[in-house]
Parts: sequence; C-alpha cells; structure tokens
Amino acid sequence: MTTSPQAHTGKPSLWARHKIFETNSILLILGILIVVSIGGLVEIAPLFYLRSTIEKVEGMRPYTPLELAGRAIYVREGCYNCHSQMIRPLRDEIERYGHFSLAAESMYDKPFQWGSKRTGPDLARVGGKYSDAWQLQHLNAPRSLVPQSIMPGYPFLATTELDVNRIAQEMRVNRMSGVPYSDEMIANAVTDLRAQVDPDHPQADAFQKRYPKAASRDFDGNPQRITEADAMIAYLQMLGTLVDFKQYDNKANLR
Ligand code: HEC
Repeated sequence: MTTSPQAHTGKPSLWARHKIFETNSILLILGILIVVSIGGLVEIAPLFYLRSTIEKVEGMRPYTPLELAGRAIYVREGCYNCHSQMIRPLRDEIERYGHFSLAAESMYDKPFQWGSKRTGPDLARVGGKYSDAWQLQHLNAPRSLVPQSIMPGYPFLATTELDVNRIAQEMRVNRMSGVPYSDEMIANAVTDLRAQVDPDHPQADAFQKRYPKAASRDFDGNPQRITEADAMIAYLQMLGTLVDFKQYDNKANLR
C-alpha cells in the first residue's frame, strides 16, 4: 500500500516540491531556462575577461582601408553564403586549405566571416593562391575559368567606382568595436587607399609604415580607376597571408 509522501515528516517531501514543477508548465520552462543558462554562463562569461581568450599572434594588423572596403563588398554581396573562412583542425581540411585557422586571424574581423556553409571552397587562405588577373576574370565570369562552377558572376565590381568617402567612417566604427585604428590611420584613410593601388604614390612609404607588408599594386589591371574589384581583390589576396606560419608550424601543426 502506498502512503502519502508527507506521512512521516509532516513537511512537503522532495517529491511534493517537484510536483509544483511537473504540474505547472510555465514554472517548468522557467526552471529549465535557469538551469541551462547557468551552464551557458559558466562556459561563456569567462571568455569576456580572460586575457588569453585570443592568443596574440605576430603579423596580425588591422585591414588597410582598401582591404576593409573589399571586405565590406564581400559582406554586401553575401559571399559568406557560399564561402566559409575557417579551416578546421582536421587532417583533410589542412591538406586541402593549409594551416588551420587561428582565433587571432579573425580578431580584426567585425563581424567575423567564419560562415557555416561551403557551397564553394573555404577562402581563409585564398590569398596568393591565384594571380590578380585570375581573380578578376573569376569575379567577372567564373565559368570562363572553372566550367562547372555554380558561382554567380560579379562583372559590375570591375566597372563600379569604389566609394571612398565611407571608408574613414567605417574605420571609426571598427575602432569602436576594438580594432586599433589610430587617429592618424583614420585621417589618412583615403590617401592610404589611393597609395595602396599605386606604388608610385607620394604617400606610398607612409602607407607601408602604417600597414607593414601590405601588398601595394593596381589590383584590377586598370590604373585609371579605383574600382570595387580593386578593393575585393586586395582583400582576397590578403586573406590568410598575415601570419607567417613557418614560425608556428613546429609548435602547432597537427601533421
Ligand atoms: C552560389 C554560391 C557562391 C557565391 C554566392 C559566391 N561563390 Fe565563390 N565560389 C563558389 C563555388 C561553387 C566555387 C568553386 C568553383 C569556382 O572556382 O568557381 C567558388 C570559388 C571561389 C573562389 C576560388 C576559391 C579557390 O580556392 O579556388 C573565390 C576566390 C571565390 N569563389 C570568391 C567569391 C567571392 C569574392 C564572392 C562574392 C562576391 C563569391 N565567391 C560568391 C560559389 C559561390
């Protein structure tokens, strides 16, 4: 014969207290939310104050104004819908794309472009894989180079003048979210942008000083104009090239 859970102690037993949750779905949902969020907080909250969340890595620098403009076009055109920028530490990925991505490599990416879908290949290390001319041709008409490609063409990039007036403002916004652009970098945004597409620019040296080892050339093969293709190709050719992995290979490579 079963007896009431209260029978012996006189106060509500665990069972009876649990009944409050089991017979009241709103309370149950609230209870679940509280328990689950404790787990989430324990995992996530320390990331905001630990100094070592993102290990500093030599070679990382904020994007040049031209690269940043290219990145904005990459986001605008939704390239991330088909391309990830995050090489996972798995053997097949490393053999195909190169060294796995480090957290520090996206530290100036606001917002990051890791992506979750690969209709096309990962682009985290596409920089230097092809020539500028290949990139231009591929953006104009992907199937002229890769006949089975399903990537759409973006021929308008090469014919659209880059809007340089927004770039200083975009750098200011990036600075608000933690990218270390100096006042000098922001004041010289447009000059630096022009200097990057023209190695003979009078400010070319100052530009190189501000953005060490940044590639400087006419990216779209048309020195008369600064187009959106200039910005996009500058951005693509930089991807994955900032960190020199020869220094890290011994320590970190899985192979
Ligand atoms: C509908 C999906 C789709 C979209 C959107 C897309 N791509 Fe692609 N992309 C592909 C596919 C598929 C390939 C592989 C075939 C090829 O090379 O064309 C590819 C290849 C590439 C490659 C060569 C990568 C390599 O390692 O060979 C680059 C660079 C590239 N895309 C850049 C871009 C950029 C920049 C944009 C945005 C302006 C973009 N893609 C938008 C599907 C897409």
